[in-house]
Amino acid sequence: MSENTFHIPPEWRASAEEIAAQGGPVMVIGAPGSGKTTFCLYLAGYFCRQGRRVAWIDADPGQPFIGPPAAYSLGLYADAGELLKRKAPLVMGFIGNTSPVGHLLEAVTAIQKLYSRALSLAPDLVLINTCGLVNGGAARELKYHEIDMIAPRYVVAIEQKNEVEHLVSPHSHRAGLLILRLPVSPDARISTSEARKAGREQRFKEYFRGAEFQDIALSDMGVHGPGLGTGERLGFRDINHLSKALNSIVVHAELSADRLFVITDGDYSEEEQYTARERYSVREISVVKRSELDYLLVGLSDNGNLCLGMGIIRELDMKELILRVITPLRDVAAVRHIALGSLRVNPAGSELGQW
Ligand SMILES: Nc1ncnc2c1ncn2[C@@H]1O[C@H](COP(=O)(O)OP(=O)(O)OP(=O)(O)O)[C@@H](O)[C@H]1O
Ligand SMILES: [Mg+2]
Repeated sequence: MSENTFHIPPEWRASAEEIAAQGGPVMVIGAPGSGKTTFCLYLAGYFCRQGRRVAWIDADPGQPFIGPPAAYSLGLYADAGELLKRKAPLVMGFIGNTSPVGHLLEAVTAIQKLYSRALSLAPDLVLINTCGLVNGGAARELKYHEIDMIAPRYVVAIEQKNEVEHLVSPHSHRAGLLILRLPVSPDARISTSEARKAGREQRFKEYFRGAEFQDIALSDMGVHGPGLGTGERLGFRDINHLSKALNSIVVHAELSADRLFVITDGDYSEEEQYTARERYSVREISVVKRSELDYLLVGLSDNGNLCLGMGIIRELDMKELILRVITPLRDVAAVRHIALGSLRVNPAGSELGQW
């Protein structure tokens, strides 16, 4: 990546020199459109041109540079020219939505797992880009714990004024942490929410291009979601009873120590679900309409729960508990964990709504 492509403020250049001398990890934070990705490209290019390898963790599930949305991705770069191409990620951490809000634990655990994997590659620099969520409680929680998990040598804060000071100040006394405050380039542009959405859809479309159907037996893996695959399956008497109680056709029900999990074929009586909960003496009941699962994004992960690929649910065989998904992952034999996301999306990339 040529420096001529960007406007490089002198402070950016000076910080690249300092980081090249001191090493990382480097975590980049800033508001949407502040130039986080541009700075990462510049810094990664700077290292690659010196013949040094960069492990780039893309921790932005909304506007990722590496990998599809709704995941964190790890890429390894040794050549500045590779930065211009969209390389497939080495591995991903499944977040489940294009916003980390509602998935903060997935985000923090994903960054940690990708960081461990990045270190195993013995790169010259670990570079972590983050999402533009900088305001509000979720932003404070997420950035606090992401910085805490990685304990980077540098936090690069790209800001016009003080947009991210509230995120760095809780770490101002952390041993060994240096905060580099860099200005936003006058060339930086914030894109409209429509353009951001169109960008996400394009990235989903690219990811699912050429995807195929795969059948996944839930009995062969750990399932993380609202309760599916975690309890004892109820028989037809209970199913009939629940169908009457919920005023709907119940197609699947499971009971675990804390939760009754039910899938219905359509609308159900919301008030009556509490009666059902009492009958089974559980703290919670979780009722899901079958249609809510259709097109739901899922993460397909290995035995270490690192995401090998994402899938889109198209069918759930209730009898055999086989999930039919569309995924670009050609071989699902290594899948041992499946996590249900909270976004419905079709393979053409259109976001169909939240779950
Ligand atoms: N130093 C720069 N020189 C030229 N253009 C820049 C520079 N910084 C940012 N831009 C432009 O501004 C826009 C936003 O930059 P960038 O995508 O790097 O920001 P970001 O903080 O990663 O945004 P997001 O929150 O959407 O991920 C892009 O079109 C980018 O090309
Ligand atoms: Mg970005």
